[in-house]
Amino acid sequence: MHQLGILLSGRGSNFLAIADAIRAGAIPNARIAVVISNVPDVPGLAAARQRGLAAIALDSRGRKRAEHDADVIAALRQYEVELVCLAGYMRLLSPGFIQAFPQRILNIHPSLLPAFPGLDAQTQAFNDGVQVAGCTVHFVDEQLDHGVIILQRAIPVLPSDDAHTLAGRILHEEHQAYPEAIARVLSGRYQIIGRRYVESAQ
Ligand code: GAR
Repeated sequence: MHQLGILLSGRGSNFLAIADAIRAGAIPNARIAVVISNVPDVPGLAAARQRGLAAIALDSRGRKRAEHDADVIAALRQYEVELVCLAGYMRLLSPGFIQAFPQRILNIHPSLLPAFPGLDAQTQAFNDGVQVAGCTVHFVDEQLDHGVIILQRAIPVLPSDDAHTLAGRILHEEHQAYPEAIARVLSGRYQIIGRRYVESAQ
């Protein structure tokens, strides 16, 4: 059984999409071992508890990054987590964290990377006038929103869109993309060649 650890900082809709996909059998042989938030009292933690999952707040306010990350790593180890999924975790990881889980940390970002890394990616994209937007699931490396791309989903920007409606439609794609990317990574049928994620023939 693959043990997933979810890190979040807020709403938790991507976490819930992953949990629903597991329940529906779309991510075979996987379970969520623990949900960790760096912000106490967020809806994502409450939703995890409601589903009977282990849910922990490790407040990062005022903490040095490496020290807070050491606590998060210890909790992930305690729950025997194999794959770490960042789901709206709005905090940079220290190099030590990335080295503790080599190619075992995924992130979802609401743009077609490498365009629009950082905060409010959907608004950045909208204001830049792009006609195609989307989301990216990628491995996490030491640079922000930069690691090897696993899966992207694109949508058109409609003439009727504003940044808010665009973000809503990107979020809908995120909820499809993240479970699919997790299932693919857990299958192990891929190689990383340079910066390319290449799936192996069946
Ligand atoms: C999602 O749109 C996710 O892509 C984004 O935060 C939101 C979290 O929503 N993450 C980033 O921007 C990371 N750079 P959620 O809490 O409902 O899953």
